[in-house]
Amino acid sequence: MKEETIWLEVESDLGAKILRCEELGIGKKSAWLIRLHDKTEYILKTNEVIDDQHVITRLKKNIISKYRNVVSRELQVYRQLSTIRFEHFKFPKLIKGKEHRYLLVEYVPSFNGWDKNEAARERVAKSLYEFNTSNLRFKQGVVEKILSDIKRKTSLKILVWSFVVIPKSNGIWDAMTCLWVLFKCTLQQRKFKHHYFLHRDLIGNNNVLTSAENGDIYFIDFESAVEERRWILNDIIDVSLSTDLEVDRDLLNEYMKLLSESDKKRLNMKAQVRIALIHRIVRRILSHNEYSKKNRHVWISFLKNILLKDHHFDDWYEKNVGI
Ligand SMILES: Nc1ncnc2c1ncn2[C@@H]1O[C@H](COP(=O)(O)OP(=O)(O)O)[C@@H](O)[C@H]1O
Ligand SMILES: [Mg+2]
Repeated sequence: MKEETIWLEVESDLGAKILRCEELGIGKKSAWLIRLHDKTEYILKTNEVIDDQHVITRLKKNIISKYRNVVSRELQVYRQLSTIRFEHFKFPKLIKGKEHRYLLVEYVPSFNGWDKNEAARERVAKSLYEFNTSNLRFKQGVVEKILSDIKRKTSLKILVWSFVVIPKSNGIWDAMTCLWVLFKCTLQQRKFKHHYFLHRDLIGNNNVLTSAENGDIYFIDFESAVEERRWILNDIIDVSLSTDLEVDRDLLNEYMKLLSESDKKRLNMKAQVRIALIHRIVRRILSHNEYSKKNRHVWISFLKNILLKDHHFDDWYEKNVGI
């Protein structure tokens, strides 16, 4: 898809001319701030624009993007969110959406991330809990569901990574140990009765905005969302971990207070944290951004020496989480 094609389509659907388009985000070309002649501003999201010169890369990316179909998925989430009355959870309003093509949402003048104080912690915990337990569901075909689960579900991702990523970064022994840890944790954490709806892309401050107007906290970018019945704390653990893996215990505690008694009883916190951390670390190992590349040896060693060793992880957990 070429960016000009989609802009023309949006102009014709809106019946208005686009004055300016500014690319947002890092890496993939899929989010733009657009400004119309009447000065209204919107965020436009499309499937990734592929303008790679190399024919093979272009073909590969085109096929992947066709099956990933992230716009339709994010659109489904926005459409369902729009029908729910939330007390705390805030997200940009959906203006217009077209399956497989684009979605247009309200532009929220804001800064990325949020200031960590007691009130904000309570707000983030309550918002996220409301979102996680909002009972959203995806309507999808069988093949689509299988592909999406492999790409998005924590256990399946770790399973796949144990065969294709960890052998290369850490060696075959660590890869086998990782499978063993995944197996043990899966036995320790039974499935929950109800599914949680996870955002799945809330690493640190990613995809959380603070409105410049009134300080409200907004969540954005729902393309990785997935239903989950076992690793339900993945979102809150991701938000609670800083880039150097320090845990915001107060935030975690705020969230824990909200869980129902039956979910609390079923929860194995240590297994939740361990699995969330393995997921986080391997994503870091895979990441191509400068920060991750520079610290790759740190992630590899953390996986090897802490996450994959029972006693070391127990010590780390007691010192850093201890809930
Ligand atoms: N509704 C919005 N209001 C204000 N800024 C936004 C909005 N949506 C996205 N952004 C900005 O654009 C960036 C990229 O958008 P995002 O939806 O996260 O796309 P991507 O899928 O490329 O990560 C965000 O990090 C944020 O800074
Ligand atoms: Mg994003």
